[in-house]
Amino acid sequence: MATAAAIQIGIPDAYLQLSPAEWTERITAAKAALGERLLILGHHYQKDEVIQFADLTGDSFKLARLAAENRTAEYIVFCGVHFMAETADILTGDHQRVILPDLNAGCSMADMANPDEVEECWQLVQETFGDTTIPITYVNSAAVLKAFCGQRGGAVCTSSNARKILDWAFHNGDRVLFFPDEHLGRNTALAMGLADRELVVYNQRTASFEWLPGQSPEDVRVILWKGFCSVHQRFQPAQVQALRDQYPGIRVIVHPECNHDVVAAADQFGSTEYIISQIEAAPAGTVWAIGTEVNLVHRLAKQHPEQTILSLNPIVCPCTTMSRISPYHLTWALESLRRGEVVNQISVPNAIAVWAKRALDTMLTIA
Ligand code: 13P
Ligand code: SF4
Repeated sequence: MATAAAIQIGIPDAYLQLSPAEWTERITAAKAALGERLLILGHHYQKDEVIQFADLTGDSFKLARLAAENRTAEYIVFCGVHFMAETADILTGDHQRVILPDLNAGCSMADMANPDEVEECWQLVQETFGDTTIPITYVNSAAVLKAFCGQRGGAVCTSSNARKILDWAFHNGDRVLFFPDEHLGRNTALAMGLADRELVVYNQRTASFEWLPGQSPEDVRVILWKGFCSVHQRFQPAQVQALRDQYPGIRVIVHPECNHDVVAAADQFGSTEYIISQIEAAPAGTVWAIGTEVNLVHRLAKQHPEQTILSLNPIVCPCTTMSRISPYHLTWALESLRRGEVVNQISVPNAIAVWAKRALDTMLTIA
């Protein structure tokens, strides 16, 4: 069973030789044979050749909720990344098993916070601000960090509910420690009306705060971990301006993992599910620039030929870890299940899962 940081051992070579026609036929056959015992969940960043086999798709929040609601599937095959599969394992029943087709499908942002670093930060937060801080972890984090929050009266949030969760936290404490994504935290706090000087960055590499000139601890309402998504770092305000010059009237919509100057230059920001909903609701003839992972942008462009849909960054930037999930790995995982062999199970140890579930349940109750 895989918990964290497991490395994918190679899958049999024969799978890597399959043609699209072969893997299509074999995945379809395995799905039919497993029937209701199987549920395939797919995140919006998955490649078309994988997501076409998902029974249900969504952003991180929707997928967590779908996993929590399902009590019938014996196997939940997660076409997404490791933290999403861990979340599904925590929220599903003991009779259900969660499978990640490639164990190397991690998240570089989630890897930017580990328990020792967070504990070290927490000590400094207590010394600097007293004990009135609520820890909030973005769902893009290891289960053990969700447990850290659950044990200390905190919660998990996703890009679709960060504002509601911060609101809740401010009712329960004086300030928030938000990790691991500095940008989601900053974008959410500023959208709620907080001022720059109410936010301070904690640099986990130097184990110290990056104070603004003249800023004091009494000013601070949100402590932001210095983590980021390498995919969303590729978007720049200059790209927004260049497209506005080229396409007057263009709508720019970006993910909140983008830097604040990009979000400020855009017209709208939100989770992948929100981005999709805005494109679907827009009238024909609308021109869009989208600042998020390119598999989703290309899919939306294909699905909505009545609109002009462009990537905000003209140089393609897929999430390499999401892309680890291939039709070969999916075929292998499903055919193994069909034979009764559970491969790549993601299983969070009970001592961690209990507390992580508390933080996730808090989110599900609020959002
Ligand atoms: P969403 O929850 O908006 O789908 O985002 C997940 C993610 O990893 C974004 O990089
Ligand atoms: Fe992680 Fe960024 Fe990939 Fe999302 S897009 S899974 S935050 S590396």
